[in-house]
Amino acid sequence: MRVTDRELINMASAAKEHSYSPYSRFPVGAAVEAADGSVYTGCNVENSAFGATLCAEAVALTAAVAAGHRKFRRIAIISDGINYCVPCGTCRQMLCEFSPEIEVLASRADGRYVSYPLAELLPRAFGKEQF
Ligand code: THU
Repeated sequence: MRVTDRELINMASAAKEHSYSPYSRFPVGAAVEAADGSVYTGCNVENSAFGATLCAEAVALTAAVAAGHRKFRRIAIISDGINYCVPCGTCRQMLCEFSPEIEVLASRADGRYVSYPLAELLPRAFGKEQF
């Protein structure tokens, strides 16, 4: 079973409701789809020591990896903002570690979204083949 883009975005949106973001007041939700079709969600978790903040994508991805997944097909990201929510640089690199070809669904609060191959968001990426 494969969820639709819309369903994946709705799952990211539901995860956003659990965001702990008292400092930025910028709740974010993410939902990553593993190769077997299972979905893991995450929200941003901030900290008074700002550098300890976790992005929604990192929470979703690491939950999936901790559950045993290593390959991913799509990730949906959504905020309450008017702009399409794209992953930060660190999260792009984290996604690239496992799935350089993952599809990124960057969504806006109104539910509209754009789809990017990760390679477009992180061209000429550093990877393990360069060791
Ligand atoms: N944030 C995410 O969770 N994902 C993104 O793609 C962009 C930024 C979070 C981190 C921080 O809690 C807040 O949004 C503002 O940067």
